[in-house]
Amino acid sequence: MSLTLNAPLDMHLHLRDGQMLENIAKCSASSFSGGLIMPNLVPPVSTKEDVIAYKQRIIQAIGDEEFEPYMTLFFDPSFDREFLESIKSDIIGIKLYPAGITTNSEGGLSGFDVEELRGVLTAMSELDIPLCVHGETNGFVMDREAEFVSIYERLATAFPKLKIIMEHITTKASVDALDRFENLYATITIHHLLITLDDVAGGMLNPHLFCKPIAKRPEDRDALRKVALEAHPKVSFGSDSAPHPREAKESCGCAAGVFTAPIALQLLAQLFDEADAPIENLQAFVSGNGQKIYGISPIPKTITLEKSPFVVPNDYNGVVPMYAGETISYSIISKD
Ligand code: DOR
Ligand code: ZN
Repeated sequence: MSLTLNAPLDMHLHLRDGQMLENIAKCSASSFSGGLIMPNLVPPVSTKEDVIAYKQRIIQAIGDEEFEPYMTLFFDPSFDREFLESIKSDIIGIKLYPAGITTNSEGGLSGFDVEELRGVLTAMSELDIPLCVHGETNGFVMDREAEFVSIYERLATAFPKLKIIMEHITTKASVDALDRFENLYATITIHHLLITLDDVAGGMLNPHLFCKPIAKRPEDRDALRKVALEAHPKVSFGSDSAPHPREAKESCGCAAGVFTAPIALQLLAQLFDEADAPIENLQAFVSGNGQKIYGISPIPKTITLEKSPFVVPNDYNGVVPMYAGETISYSIISKD
C-alpha cells in the first residue's frame, strides 16, 4: 500500500547553524518541500541582515534539494513599524520566546503587558505578520502550557486581527482555546501525537524524548490526535525537530529537543493509517492547512511512502533520532 503526499511542509523546524546545519539540513530538505525555520541561534536571528545571511547558509547546506526555508525573526518588543515594513517580505512570521524558557531563549520576553506590546503587535497585525509563540510560563513543568493559555487569550482579545500561532501544543487546554478565538492557530509535532510523559520518564529515562514543552498526559495526547487526525483547519504540522549532539542529550543536564526530521513523514503516515484517518486529512495537516494559514504556495514536490518496515538509523551524523534502532511501519520509496 502506498500513498503520495504533495508538498509536505514542516511549519516549525530547527536547522541550527555551522557544522550542525551542514549535518542535518538534508534530513528535512529530502522529505519536505519547505519548513518554517526557528530563529533561536546564538546570537538569535534578530535583524534583516541576520535573516538574509542565515537563509543563504541554509540554502548552501541543502545543496541541490528543492526546499524553501521560510524564515522567522526572534521577537523583540522594540521592533517598530518602519523596521517591520522593511523586513516583511523576508520573513513568514516572528517567533516569541518567554525569556529562558527553552534552548537559546535567554533574550526572550520577560513580561506580557499588553500596553507595552501594543506598538509592535499592532504593527504586526496591520502588516499581517503572524506571531509564533512558545507558550509556556515558568510555573510547574506539567502546568506551564495550560497556564499560558490565559496569556494567549489576552493577546488574542487585545489584537483580534493578529494571527497568533500556538507552537507545538501539548495539552487539551490549548486545543480547547483554538475554537474560542478566531485568530488563534496551532502547530503540533509528531512526537507529541505519539508519546506521553510515561515514554520520557515512566520507565528508564529516555533523554531523546525530552523536549520543551514536555510530553503530557494520555488525555492531552488524545485531544491533540483528534484535531490532527481530523485536520482541523487551524492546525498544521510542525515537527519542532530540534537536533542536539549525542553528548548533549546523553548527559547530566540533557538538552531539550527531539530529532524527528528524517522520520516525521513516515511516522505521520503510520499514525494516520493506524487511526484509519483519510489520506486527505494527512495531506491537509501536513501541507494544505499551513499553506492557508500562512498564505504560501510551496515548491511542487511529491513524496511517496509505502507500508514497509523501516529501521530507524542509530544516528544521523552524530544526532540520535526519535526511535533510533527501532522499526517503524512506513518507508519513503520515491520523491519527485
Ligand atoms: O525541546 C525543545 N527544543 N523545545 C524548544 O522550544 C526549543 C528546542 C531547541 O531549540 O532545541
Ligand atoms: Zn521549536
